[in-house]
Amino acid sequence: MSKVIFITGASSGIGKAAAILFAERGWNVAATMRNPDHATDLHQYPSIKCCTLDVTQPDSVRQAVDQALQDWPRIDVLLNNAGYGLFGPLETVSEAKLMDQFQTNVFGTMRTIQALTPHFRESGGGTIINITSIGGLVGLPFNAIYHATKFGVDGLSESLNYELRPFNIRVKVVAPGGVATDFAGRSLKQTMDGASPYDERIQQVMAAFSKRGGQYSSSEQIAEVIYEAATDGTDRLRYVAGKDAQDLYTRWKDMSNEDFFAMIQQAYGLNQ
Ligand SMILES: NC(=O)c1ccc[n+]([C@@H]2O[C@H](COP(=O)([O-])OP(=O)(O)OC[C@H]3O[C@@H](n4cnc5c(N)ncnc54)[C@H](OP(=O)(O)O)[C@@H]3O)[C@@H](O)[C@H]2O)c1
Repeated sequence: MSKVIFITGASSGIGKAAAILFAERGWNVAATMRNPDHATDLHQYPSIKCCTLDVTQPDSVRQAVDQALQDWPRIDVLLNNAGYGLFGPLETVSEAKLMDQFQTNVFGTMRTIQALTPHFRESGGGTIINITSIGGLVGLPFNAIYHATKFGVDGLSESLNYELRPFNIRVKVVAPGGVATDFAGRSLKQTMDGASPYDERIQQVMAAFSKRGGQYSSSEQIAEVIYEAATDGTDRLRYVAGKDAQDLYTRWKDMSNEDFFAMIQQAYGLNQ
């Protein structure tokens, strides 16, 4: 019997690449997204079923999980991938943008886990893979709120392992570096709404981020890491994905906090 993966945010980027990779390797895929009408190229795969799911809406999460459990008797893996970036100073963020970022990246992840845990428990186990970011392990300038969400999901995942492992449920984190997707385009929101005292520094940081585009991984490369996390049968918690992320994480672990902070200030033109 083919295994089944339930994916959030499968309309584009990493989620879509994962849907295709798992389907090509013989899995059934519940490819959930806010608007399945946009997933025209996923419809060609007979083992992919597209379904509506907005992670900010509890009813939508429950309905999508119920639908998947009608389509297949068992779900083996939950991939929490839906998410977006919020760039800019904390001081300038509106309450609505702050809430929406946590609703999507953190509470959305909690909702799907809560909805699928009874099934995993009752069916003898499962694997939960949460997409965080290198920004869930290392802080970079002007990403404080996004990083707070991803650090939050990293901590959630580590702690959950202790409560779910007795039921043979593993929780894993895939933490990508830069990935060439819609993330830096339509999926990147800003806290600023007009001029702010941070403008000059924001320009320097944006210029530094845009120079890094050449080092980005592809969605397909990250999907391979997700596949490894889903199938390696180990209790490994974190999979830092992409050479840029691995290099940065190694430096963060090897350097003193003071030296790392000075290096990042220098790299982002913030030391004047
Ligand atoms: N690309 C990077 O550099 C990078 C690096 C580290 C981590 N990540 C993480 O990787 C994940 C996927 O991002 P991506 O790079 O593949 O970007 P992407 O192509 O823009 O994909 C983001 C996905 O999240 C979905 N989404 C957003 N809000 C949602 C909601 N309320 N309910 C359901 N789905 C929602 C989007 O759906 P719609 O089509 O409906 O908008 C889209 O499918 C995110 O969690 C992101 O934080 C990305």
